[in-house]
Amino acid sequence: MPGGVLSEVVMSCFDPSRREALVAALGLPAALVVAGAAGAAPVPRVVSPSNSFEQKASRIMRSYQVGDQKGLDSLRSVEVAVPEPGPGEVRIAVKASALNHRDLMVMEGRYGGPKPPSRVPVADGAGEVVALGAGVTRVKLGDRVTAPHFSTWIDGDYDPSVFVADVGNMRDGWLQEQIVLPASALVKLPEQMSYEDAAALGAAAITAWAVIEPFGRVKSGDVVLTLGTGGVAILALQIAKMSGAKVAITSSSDAKLAACRELGADITVNYRTTPAWHEAVLAATGGRGADIVVETVGLGTLSQSIACCAPNARIGWLGGLEGPPPAGPNLGPLILKNAVLKGITSGSRKMLEDLLRAFDGNGVKPKIDRVFPFGQARAALDYLATGGHIGKIVIRHG
Ligand SMILES: NC(=O)c1ccc[n+]([C@@H]2O[C@H](COP(=O)([O-])OP(=O)(O)OC[C@H]3O[C@@H](n4cnc5c(N)ncnc54)[C@H](OP(=O)(O)O)[C@@H]3O)[C@@H](O)[C@H]2O)c1
Repeated sequence: MPGGVLSEVVMSCFDPSRREALVAALGLPAALVVAGAAGAAPVPRVVSPSNSFEQKASRIMRSYQVGDQKGLDSLRSVEVAVPEPGPGEVRIAVKASALNHRDLMVMEGRYGGPKPPSRVPVADGAGEVVALGAGVTRVKLGDRVTAPHFSTWIDGDYDPSVFVADVGNMRDGWLQEQIVLPASALVKLPEQMSYEDAAALGAAAITAWAVIEPFGRVKSGDVVLTLGTGGVAILALQIAKMSGAKVAITSSSDAKLAACRELGADITVNYRTTPAWHEAVLAATGGRGADIVVETVGLGTLSQSIACCAPNARIGWLGGLEGPPPAGPNLGPLILKNAVLKGITSGSRKMLEDLLRAFDGNGVKPKIDRVFPFGQARAALDYLATGGHIGKIVIRHG
């Protein structure tokens, strides 16, 4: 590797602590730490690699970073030092990662405030444990693992503090060759589950699960309504079908609705050609409506979701794809229907464990639309932004 490339690697680290670790790991002059002090513009410098390059190269990996978060053009591909696990942490060789709508928001600076340019995006992934920090006994080398993006939410009620360790947002995410995570966050993959399927069963699946299972308490024969054909909605469809529920789903595309019927959807409505889609859902359920609503769109569709929910329905509001109508959402029918509207913020490690067991036990594979190679992460994000997908977009690492 030419010395200039090593220099680029170092100068790409704006975070002083990361820069320091990188300089130490590569055995480079300590002066580079000072040259890149916080706030300083990166100054191109040529660093001559020593003759032990092979040894150093094994400590370098490829990674993506969020850059200045002004859109997908901000995504940058870099080489950095392989991160070392601290006490209670493990290092994982990432085999697959998966995209979510929020990754677009992160790249546009619209999710959780501005981040250091060196932050690694992407909330979901799976891989093999390759290094253990001090005191780790929960997992061993070679284990195949994944983790919820709220890496400190193990079980029980939601607490806002989980955002502090949100993977791909407040701490480095999966769009890198190796990731360090707390061992306490990890979930072992069922034996038959591929890394790609496990990555696809991350944030979107956990959130759909949180609505349908712990909140919705789904029963066989319930009607579950979900909107659109993105990651959350399609995983909601699959989870609901596993539970013996009937599924109503909307889309702007008849072709996508046909794909939903193949996945088991019972009621399919095109919300473009049938703007009063709530009436179609009511008609298709004999006037009763949906027992559980996975509200992926938000305030823009909430009035219609409430209008077509059943008595005693549970509505889990998780999405923000459309803002409120000018007059605001019509919440009045919640009272007459004795329905419950609850905000849903993803879920815990326990929920991830339960949903992996459910997919594995039922022999169901998450619907993956396309798999991109690691080197084409930008193309994968572009594809997500077009909205042409059904279900999940996965990136294969290595
Ligand atoms: N609260 C949480 O913890 C949590 C977790 C995950 C996701 N989310 C949120 O949930 C939403 C969906 O996320 P995602 O990752 O599933 O997104 P995604 O994969 O990008 O899916 C977006 C899909 O939504 C559909 N859509 C857009 N506007 C619609 C409308 N007016 N009516 C019906 N469908 C509409 C479109 O489906 P068609 O092409 O079929 O029309 C579009 O393809 C986002 O707002 C995301 O931020 C929240």
